[in-house]
Amino acid sequence: MTKAKVAGIGHYVPERVITNQDLESVMDTSDAWIKERTGISERRYFNPEKDTVANMAARAARAAIEQAGIGIEEIDFIVFATITPDYFFPGSGVLLQRELGLDGIGALDIRNACSGFIYALSIAEQYVKTGTYRNILVVGAEIQSSALEMNDRGRSVSVIFADGAGAVVVQATEDSAPQGILSTHLHADGRFAEELYVKDPGSSRKNRLTKEMIDGTGIRAYMNGNLVFKHAIVRFQEVIHEALNANSLKVSDIDLLIPHQANLRISQMVQKQLGLGNEQVFNNIMKYGNTTGASIPIAMSEAWLEKKIKPGDLLCIAAFGSGFTWASSLIKF
Ligand code: UT7
Repeated sequence: MTKAKVAGIGHYVPERVITNQDLESVMDTSDAWIKERTGISERRYFNPEKDTVANMAARAARAAIEQAGIGIEEIDFIVFATITPDYFFPGSGVLLQRELGLDGIGALDIRNACSGFIYALSIAEQYVKTGTYRNILVVGAEIQSSALEMNDRGRSVSVIFADGAGAVVVQATEDSAPQGILSTHLHADGRFAEELYVKDPGSSRKNRLTKEMIDGTGIRAYMNGNLVFKHAIVRFQEVIHEALNANSLKVSDIDLLIPHQANLRISQMVQKQLGLGNEQVFNNIMKYGNTTGASIPIAMSEAWLEKKIKPGDLLCIAAFGSGFTWASSLIKF
């Protein structure tokens, strides 16, 4: 039986480091508030002269492909998770395909925000298991900083979000050893769509984009932070237990949990709920902020480089975000 394994992981973060002190100089906030409420010390912002969502994705993808030990030309499909595409249309998948010189292969875009990478992974998993493709590039990449409102009004959102890219190669294997993506679990509740969203521009408005929209707040991310937080800490542990139950596994079987890097306090609460030790949960939000769809693959890549994921380990990834959407996956390395 064909299984889908994660054969390579890579990431790219822009060089420009923005510290909490940098934000103090443009809005009424403080290093102490940001650290206490979110755990973030610094984050990366893109360089408009150099970085695009697609080319950051390409850098992450090349690293993942190299680690997988295959040639770029062996990639036969792309699934790209982003809510900050370079263009309104076409999607970022085709731009990545062009960056990598992979003419002709299919390229699919996923718009499930913070859960986007796991949604994307689930699609790759199914295509590989059914024998349709053998090497699928799954990418999460975002540039959030170009739309952040860098003033007092936008501060609760602006101090969190940031830019980056991560990628994995999902590969077919006929190896009988228990390895690969054991399962993926996806959920959504659209009743909460407007609790974390960007309203404008929107196609259902008489004029898609107006000066009023630009002057207003609708083009900025709106987040009901407290509500998102409350739902997140319930859904995270729910969807992690769902994945464990589906595979007849226990919390103690998890070698490493990588939660979507939304807020360090959320990760710590989930860790406590599950009774996991510090070594069993990987966080890097301190350095990178919340990079939405990119946060999990960036963290997977760093955890791998730091040898916190080793061959034979059971990794659990889980996410919650805009939609609301939430998701999890168990991956045996
Ligand atoms: O990745 C997608 C999913 N997103 C999440 O999971 C994020 C979930 N939510 C959160 O992480 C938190 O709700 C935030 C970090 C966004 C906000 O933290 P909070 O502890 O929920 O703060 P709050 O919004 O309740 O605000 C508390 C106080 C308010 O002042 P008053 O009314 O108590 O005087 C805010 O005005 O903190 C104030 N505040 C700030 N102060 C300094 C809000 N933002 C800031 C800021 N700097 N940046």
